[in-house]
Amino acid sequence: MIASSPNEIRFAQRRPWLGTSWKMNKTVAEAMEYARLLAVWAQTAPVEASIAILPPFTALARVAEVLQGGVTRIPVQLGAQNMHWEDAGPFTGEISPVMLRDAGANLVEIGHFERRTAFGETDITVNHKLRSALRHNLSVVLCVGEDESTRDFGVVQEFLSIQLKIALHEVPASALSDIVVAYEPGWAIGSQGSSASAEQVSTVHRHLRSTLVGLYGVDHATATRIVYGGSVTCEGVSTYASIPDVDGLFVGRAAWEVSDFVRIIEAFCAARAGYHRTA
Ligand code: PGA
Repeated sequence: MIASSPNEIRFAQRRPWLGTSWKMNKTVAEAMEYARLLAVWAQTAPVEASIAILPPFTALARVAEVLQGGVTRIPVQLGAQNMHWEDAGPFTGEISPVMLRDAGANLVEIGHFERRTAFGETDITVNHKLRSALRHNLSVVLCVGEDESTRDFGVVQEFLSIQLKIALHEVPASALSDIVVAYEPGWAIGSQGSSASAEQVSTVHRHLRSTLVGLYGVDHATATRIVYGGSVTCEGVSTYASIPDVDGLFVGRAAWEVSDFVRIIEAFCAARAGYHRTA
């Protein structure tokens, strides 16, 4: 690749990140078996990438035991899908960052579209959660994404700037290395075949990166990974892997079988390596 801008130089250096959230799926036994098989693959994985699995809360501690039991060539992060920002207290049904660490998680997903729309999370609670997670040494997948009507009104970039700026309010530049930004448009999540086009993703990712440049400067912004999620399939992987501002994928349904997740990871990394060789 002929690198001319700081972002192009950093593109080659940003290690791909590929994660899967299982949402409200899998028993403890199913989650452990998935983790066991993934860890076996990761022992000799032929890729350079960061991998993350995000089981339901009930499986975290047992999956942590499975992952801690093996030595993997590439890191496999264990993430939760949500958390409260307080350490403890009268918050019936909630889980705290202290509990996540205790269960063995080192990552947490914050601000998923389903949490925002079905459970009333706001940009402000997302900011509370993000800062609390960082205080507890949890890495963060920060999800941003617009719904269909925001896109119809033509204000996607304004909307995403607000989501990103409020989420990162009072978050120092030094914390960015612990944050992966996931662009997950609500209209693409869980849909039958309407994942975002390469052009849509490329435009949004460039915008998110320039918002980060405005907040933190070029160096930090170009070191931060921005990944895409929303109806990603094995077949669609190479489309995204060749977009210069797409540093990985956050996958739901298509990665709920471990063999499919491995295929997605390998396909992304192969396409990315090919891009760097030929571009
Ligand atoms: P999906 O979910 O891949 O099943 O659309 C993506 C997500 O919600 O992160």
